[in-house]
Amino acid sequence: MKDIFASLKSIASYIPPRCVSNADFEKTLDTSDEWISKRTGIKTRYFATPEQNTSDLAYEAGKLAIERAKLSPNDIDAVIVATLSPEYLTMPSTACIAAYKLGIQNKPAFDISGACSGFIYLLNVAKSFIESRTYDNILIIGAEKVSSVLDFEDRGTCVLFGDGGGAAVVSATTDRSQSILDVHIAANGKYGDLLYTPRFNATSNSPKQYLQMKGNEVFKQAVKTLAQDVKDILEHNAIRPQDVKFFVPHQANLRIINAVGEMLDFSPDQIVLTVQKYGNTSAASIPMAIDEIYKQGKLKNGDLLLLDAFGGGFTWGSALVYFNGENLQ
Ligand code: UT7
Repeated sequence: MKDIFASLKSIASYIPPRCVSNADFEKTLDTSDEWISKRTGIKTRYFATPEQNTSDLAYEAGKLAIERAKLSPNDIDAVIVATLSPEYLTMPSTACIAAYKLGIQNKPAFDISGACSGFIYLLNVAKSFIESRTYDNILIIGAEKVSSVLDFEDRGTCVLFGDGGGAAVVSATTDRSQSILDVHIAANGKYGDLLYTPRFNATSNSPKQYLQMKGNEVFKQAVKTLAQDVKDILEHNAIRPQDVKFFVPHQANLRIINAVGEMLDFSPDQIVLTVQKYGNTSAASIPMAIDEIYKQGKLKNGDLLLLDAFGGGFTWGSALVYFNGENLQ
């Protein structure tokens, strides 16, 4: 029997319609375009409309990912969504709602909670399902309406995030040189109180109804952890930074990305940056960033991607992925 490997068959994203600039925040908050740009790199972010839910963002990205994989909804064996802003508190899962909207019924659908590292966790779960021959085609989606958990009076968090959806189809292949080569994920709950969303049992008069972050402490841990994690995955697979076509980091802060990029000696044209346009879209940020280079026609079949992410939990992870999708015509 031939070996089976998981591969990234398609990539897609959805950007919601409401563009909010740093100047817009200057009108309501004690902040400035200069502070936000200098400390984060962010210039704009996009928010969903009040009518749009997380599953709508997931649906839009998921639909395009299925089309680009040249598949129909019937071919999808499972739908898995990563989100920190699910449509309902615990059920139904955003994956169940999005799968139904996509016309995928009577197939497994579930959410995972990996915060900003959610897409790397999804890759690992999908890879395991495929390589254990449980499924052939899995739709994975990072979808976030982070604006629904932001305190728009807290200048330390609300300017950082954006909404969006990013999706991919992960399919079976027999060609290892087209596969998701390696995925590493990890977590340490010791740091849970540095970045979190409201408790399930929060009382209605609780002051903590929104996302809370001790930004500076998260920043330091993120740089340290990611630099080591990325080094480890490269070494483990005997791959040099110059062998990687694109380094696609989680888009939280330009300074974090540059610090890790410099430690690894990546050239600027290897590093994919979307944080200026979209802000931090949590679990959607990596697939949105991959789709950005795909839409620009830069990402080609066979290109090697290095992904990394860090988020609440703390969770983190990295992945080495050969893109196995069709080139954009
Ligand atoms: O995706 C999940 C992982 N998340 C991250 O990776 C985010 C990690 N953290 C960060 O990106 C940065 O820590 C922030 C962008 C959140 C903050 O940047 P910083 O350089 O660490 O600033 P800071 O938190 O140390 O705050 C410096 C000052 C403070 O004022 P004082 O105490 O020095 O007077 C803040 O109150 O900047 C102030 N500040 C602001 N000023 C203007 C905080 N937010 C703002 C703001 N506008 N929006």
